[in-house]
Amino acid sequence: MRRTIYQHDANAKHEGAPRLAWVRGLLAVGACVAVASIGSSCNLDPVHRASVNGLGPEEADLYPVESEYHRPGEPCALCHSTKGPADSVFVLGGTVFWGPDDYNARVDNAYVRILDANKTKRCFVTNCNGNFYVRKEDFSKITFPLLVSVERTVKPGQDESTLVIRRMSSHIGREASCATCHIQGLRDFASPGQIRMFNSEQEFKDKNIPLIDCPPPEDFVQVQKCPEDVN
Ligand code: HEC
Ligand code: HEC
Repeated sequence: MRRTIYQHDANAKHEGAPRLAWVRGLLAVGACVAVASIGSSCNLDPVHRASVNGLGPEEADLYPVESEYHRPGEPCALCHSTKGPADSVFVLGGTVFWGPDDYNARVDNAYVRILDANKTKRCFVTNCNGNFYVRKEDFSKITFPLLVSVERTVKPGQDESTLVIRRMSSHIGREASCATCHIQGLRDFASPGQIRMFNSEQEFKDKNIPLIDCPPPEDFVQVQKCPEDVN
């Protein structure tokens, strides 16, 4: 076995790589068994594992790690799934940005509205980092396909007149992470780009809308419910 993998002949070029991958898989199984014993989620699907690893490590200088504020723009439900590595499972999750290009300008208190195949309407609010997420237990009967819109009001919680609203014209067939299609930093044939309220950064700048630090300052009002859910 060992000899086959490490031999330096012409065949190794073709056969060595898949075998190495196989050995890595075996090592991962070993690691999983070890990890499983301390209670964390683990999975043996190499494609899933590669996708998760491809996202890279947490960036503590950008956000509080492993919190509701982390990894804005990334496909939340890739990790927050039964395959892990996160323990919590999300049926939907994503990040809303002000413009099409600036990763650092994200929309706090945006209302993300979902209409599912059962005509159930639900609305979720983004936090100071533009993130929203829906736990399985919070929308257990969610049925795809979905229609979705995103609204930001003038002063969420106080002045609920519309500042800007955008509706996705196609439906979401089955994908739980907005960012799987709205790929960060990619705006071309392959992706509509980050979810945005304005079509240009200039348009956003012209509005003079304040950006919120995250975690937010004490006087920041995090709206918990959309206007239609406040009674
Ligand atoms: C690369 C994998 C990965 C991605 C992508 C990811 N998370 Fe997480 N997240 C984790 C892990 C691991 C934790 C640690 C706690 C746990 O295991 O659930 C965590 C913790 C959290 C928590 C705190 C624990 C909880 O369930 O309340 C929240 C909230 C959260 N993430 C939201 C998000 C949102 C929103 C996104 C997308 C914008 C996202 N995460 C993207 C892996 C990820
Ligand atoms: C299956 C791929 C896919 C997923 C998943 C997806 N989108 Fe989209 N989205 C698109 C495409 C393609 C467009 C551009 C065409 C259109 O509007 O349908 C778009 C456009 C949009 C628009 C902008 C419409 C406009 O005004 O130009 C918004 C807002 C939006 N999506 C929100 C979301 C949210 C929120 C999520 C996650 C809950 C999400 N999308 C998940 C593919 C996707």
